[in-house]
Amino acid sequence: MGTMPARDDHPRSAVEVYSDQALLDPWHCYRELRDAGPVVFLERYGMYAATRYSVVDHILRTPDVFPSGEGVMMNDEMNSVLRGNTLCSDGDAHEANRRVILRPLRPPALRPLQERIRAEARMVVDRVVGRRVDAVVEIAQHLPVTVVSDLVGLPERGRERMLVWASEMFNCFGPMSDRTRSSFSVLGEMMQYATDEAVPGKLKPGSWAEAVHDAAGRGEVAPEACPVMMIDYMGPSLDTTIFAISSAIWLFANHPEQWDAVRADRSLIPSAVNEVLRIESPIQDFSRSVAVDHEIDGVRLPAGARVITFYGAGNRDERRYVDPDSFDVRRDAADHLGFGAGPHQCVGLNLAKLEMRAVFEALADRVRAFELHHEERALHNILRGFTRLEVTPHP
Ligand code: HEM
Repeated sequence: MGTMPARDDHPRSAVEVYSDQALLDPWHCYRELRDAGPVVFLERYGMYAATRYSVVDHILRTPDVFPSGEGVMMNDEMNSVLRGNTLCSDGDAHEANRRVILRPLRPPALRPLQERIRAEARMVVDRVVGRRVDAVVEIAQHLPVTVVSDLVGLPERGRERMLVWASEMFNCFGPMSDRTRSSFSVLGEMMQYATDEAVPGKLKPGSWAEAVHDAAGRGEVAPEACPVMMIDYMGPSLDTTIFAISSAIWLFANHPEQWDAVRADRSLIPSAVNEVLRIESPIQDFSRSVAVDHEIDGVRLPAGARVITFYGAGNRDERRYVDPDSFDVRRDAADHLGFGAGPHQCVGLNLAKLEMRAVFEALADRVRAFELHHEERALHNILRGFTRLEVTPHP
């Protein structure tokens, strides 16, 4: 079991971080938890919360004490489902899986894709300039859905379902609740597909997914890990980047002076990408189990507990960033926790940054300002972003 009562001397809190209200606007809860202690027992969920930058970073970089092999989700059911994929493994098995998953995502492997990604981004922007559009569908989804899902290489039906599957899968990461439970049936469909359909002969030749099976054929990874390793690509490759791009457009619409700065000086684009990921963190939190008793800044975490690592809270820690709630594209936020840190830091970060940079560059060429008409935030256990964002990108 990953949940247990707190020791009496621990900072504790009744804050409900997964209530609708907190998910839509988590920042004051995060601040309260950061101020309450280095790790705080969440009474409502039976788990600890790490919300300060230094503590989240320490946990992610100390895998012997805080392993991923017991799962990184906030409920036991889900932690047993993904056991053995890259995200939920440790040590040699993790390294072997990660080497295979990372192969097509290293900068030299991505270089040949750059021009295609830039051209697609320019095409998308040409299509939307001067029109009132839903930026989620017409801007943010385009690159992940057309380019990335093609590279992953699932057969047709899988590609169509990937968006729904990914979002529902991340919902299943939360503590057990009606919201979490309602996503489990879709997860079942995804797992079935990963086992029966995402297999050699059905996958696109030369695709990333096929390369995982090839690696298993050469003995580089365990063959029985292939279905869950399909999830390493099917789960995090789309929604994360889509939410990042929609959050960026929302931020630029609300802070026109920041967009002016980017347009005037394109060398700010890489730091603007980091700043978006810092301040809105598309993945807000995962967790780790505690393998042995461990003291953090005077508080002793007991072996057997589970601690939630709130990347999104660490990224807004006033102990680490000056004026953390202000969006500033000139800030040096390269060390943000939006991609995690340590041995499990996101393998897709180069691709995600490439996509974001391409979209920002294409927008900067054609768009003077974003007029925001209507927004609907996703009500989601883990992911932060929009389901609908109506804007007019003015030339
Ligand atoms: C803006 C977009 C993205 C964000 C914010 C993001 C965020 C993250 C985070 C926070 C982790 C750390 C997990 C941990 O601490 O346990 C992670 C890991 C991972 N990400 Fe991403 N991700 C993004 C894009 C992608 C893409 C495009 C892919 C694949 C093409 C991808 C694949 C993975 C995989 C396989 C892992 C597990 C790595 C490991 O456990 O060694 N991600 N991501």
